[in-house]
Amino acid sequence: MNPGGLPLRRGLISIKDLTKEQIEAVLSESAKMLNACQCGADVNYLDNKIMATLFFEPSTRTRLSFESAMQRLGGGVIGFADPSSSSSMKGESLADTVRIVSSYSDIIVLRHPMEGAASEASASSLVPVINAGDGTGEHPTQALLDLFTIKMEKGRLGKLKVAVVGDLKNGRTVHSLAYALALFGNQILFIAPKKLQVPDEVLSGLSRRYSGMVEKSESLESALDADVIYMTRMQKERFASPDEYGLFANYYSINRKFLSRANDEVILMHPLPRVGEISPEVDGMKNSVYFKQAAYGVPVRMAILNMIIGQQSGIV
Ligand code: NCD
Repeated sequence: MNPGGLPLRRGLISIKDLTKEQIEAVLSESAKMLNACQCGADVNYLDNKIMATLFFEPSTRTRLSFESAMQRLGGGVIGFADPSSSSSMKGESLADTVRIVSSYSDIIVLRHPMEGAASEASASSLVPVINAGDGTGEHPTQALLDLFTIKMEKGRLGKLKVAVVGDLKNGRTVHSLAYALALFGNQILFIAPKKLQVPDEVLSGLSRRYSGMVEKSESLESALDADVIYMTRMQKERFASPDEYGLFANYYSINRKFLSRANDEVILMHPLPRVGEISPEVDGMKNSVYFKQAAYGVPVRMAILNMIIGQQSGIV
């Protein structure tokens, strides 16, 4: 049985593919995986499966937490972290690479600089494809681990004021997270310089599907009463020139002084890597949960992998 009954057999391309109930099922399986790992329980549910990680863009957390998740589930891992060692350097198309690798594996995890790449890949794949970031598009598994973190740290997922800060135009984690936050009835405050505000298509997608409150601001001060502050970095590699990036680098930064003025119960999140948006001086404060958030990547991705290619969850 596919635990949770998720229709994920074709993979996970966009957070919009999931209903609220399906997201809840992922979070509940993730909690079981976390518990099983903490108890040292046997979770070899995927011991006859192989996951391929095809990473055409840099990654630390996403690739390694997927690989750790698969290995904890007893599965094998193949793939590349550097496309220069793959045949794409010889001019092979993404469709051909994916078609071939899908005959060597049971699931493909793909990161690619082109928006829409995961969707395109899934059309030529014989096995499910997970979108691990497609350019400025989406990053659905990050959104699921972000939601899991909010649930673990705040005890609930709805009726929260969530301030999302930084490069909201190019940051794909935000594009996926915004849909999920809206689905659960949260108030979202998008804080960004005008030129880097959340794209109109994301905003119109939100208003078409949900009635929740969405606001925009340029000032970090408006995050002071938020329940969750979700910082993101300026996406240097997506700017037209180093000069343009220079205009926005260090635009927002959270330090001890700012946090001491914020809602005492606020949680401070970041998909990482950080490049100055959060001062290391706040790492030890009770509000800072970004390292925990990164660690939750493993149980959440264990749940996702098992829900897509596992025969049974086996977790009670
Ligand atoms: C993010 C990404 O790749 O989109 N990183 C991650 O997966 N944790 C965020 C980023 O690179 O800024």
